[in-house]
Amino acid sequence: MMTLLHIIYFILTSLALITTLSIEATGATEATGTANTTKQTDKQSIEENKYTPQDLIKAAHKIKKMFDLENHDYDKYTGDEINQVCAGCHDEFGMGGKDGKYPRIAGLPVEYIIKEIVLFRERLRPNIAMVEHVEERQLSNNEVMDIAIFLNKIKLNNRLSKIDETAPGFDAYARLQEAKAVIQIGRAPGDAEKGKKLYNRECKSCHGRQGEGDQKKAIPMLAGQYTNYLWRQLDMYLNGKRLNDEDDPEEEFLKSFSKKQLQDMLAYISILDD
Ligand code: HEC
Ligand code: HEC
Repeated sequence: MMTLLHIIYFILTSLALITTLSIEATGATEATGTANTTKQTDKQSIEENKYTPQDLIKAAHKIKKMFDLENHDYDKYTGDEINQVCAGCHDEFGMGGKDGKYPRIAGLPVEYIIKEIVLFRERLRPNIAMVEHVEERQLSNNEVMDIAIFLNKIKLNNRLSKIDETAPGFDAYARLQEAKAVIQIGRAPGDAEKGKKLYNRECKSCHGRQGEGDQKKAIPMLAGQYTNYLWRQLDMYLNGKRLNDEDDPEEEFLKSFSKKQLQDMLAYISILDD
C-alpha cells in the first residue's frame, strides 16, 4: 500500500519537477548557498545545530524571493494529493496530534508554511521526522506552494455546531465528518490572568488579539496550537535553533521572560480557543 502510493507520488512529483525546473534552477541553488555544508550532514549534526543566526537570516530573505506566489497557479488536487503524505503525521485535516508531537498545520499563513518547509529541507530547522518528505526530489517548489495554500484553506472548529442529533433528517455522516475537524486545546497550567496581561503587552502586536496570528505578515497562530509544541518551540528560540524575527532576532526578546512568565502566557494562550 505504502509502496504503491510512493510510486504514484514519485511519478507525479517528477512530472511537476520538469515544469518547475526553471524556478528551481534560479531560486533554489541560490538559497542553498549557505546551507550546502549543513545539507550533507547526518541526523546527529541536525541536533547539534551547526548553523548560526546569520545563516537563518540569509535563508529567510532568500526564501521570500524564491517563491512567486502572485503568479502561482494553485492546483487544489495536487495539494490534496500531497496532503495524504503529510496526513501520516499531521492528520488529514492538518490538526496534528500526539499531544503536540505533531503540530497543527491547518490554517497557518501560506508564506509561513513555505518558509518552514524550506528551512526543514535545508536543515536550518531541526525536524528529523519530516525531512525526507520535503526533499526537493519529493516536493518541487510549485508543490510546496500548492500544499501551503491547501493547508492554509482548511478551517478547523473548536467545538461541534449545535444541532439536534435526534431531529428527523439528521445526517450522521456529515456530523461525523464535522467531528473529525474539531480541535480544542486543553487548559495548560499557569496563571492565565497574569498571562493575559503579559501576552497583550508583549505578543499581541504580532500574534493577534486572539492569538490568531497574521496571515499577511506570515506570523503563525498560537491559539489552537498544542501547548507542548509551543514549549518545544520556545526552547528552540531560546537555544538559537529557530529565529523569530529576522530583522530583530527574538531570542534576546524571549530571554527577558522568566519560565513562570512564559508558563502564564501559555496558560492564557491555551484558553483563547475555548
Ligand atoms: C513523519 C512525520 C511527518 C510528516 C510525514 C510530515 N511532518 Fe510536518 N512536522 C513533523 C514534526 C515532528 C514537526 C514538528 C517539529 C518540531 O517540533 O519543531 C512538523 C512540523 C511541521 C511544520 C511547522 C509547523 C509550525 O507551526 O511551525 C509544518 C509547516 C509542517 N510540518 C508541514 C508538513 C507538510 C506540508 C507535510 C507534508 C508534505 C509534512 N509536514 C509531513 C512531522 C511530519
Ligand atoms: C515582532 C513580532 C513578534 C512578537 C512581538 C512575538 N512574536 Fe512570536 N513569532 C513571530 C514570528 C514572525 C514567528 C515565526 C518565526 C519563524 O519563522 O520561526 C513567531 C513564532 C512564534 C512561536 C512558534 C510558533 C510555531 O507555530 O512554531 C512561538 C511559540 C511564539 N512566536 C511565541 C511568542 C510569544 C510567547 C510572544 C510574546 C512574549 C511572541 N511570540 C512575540 C513574531 C513575533
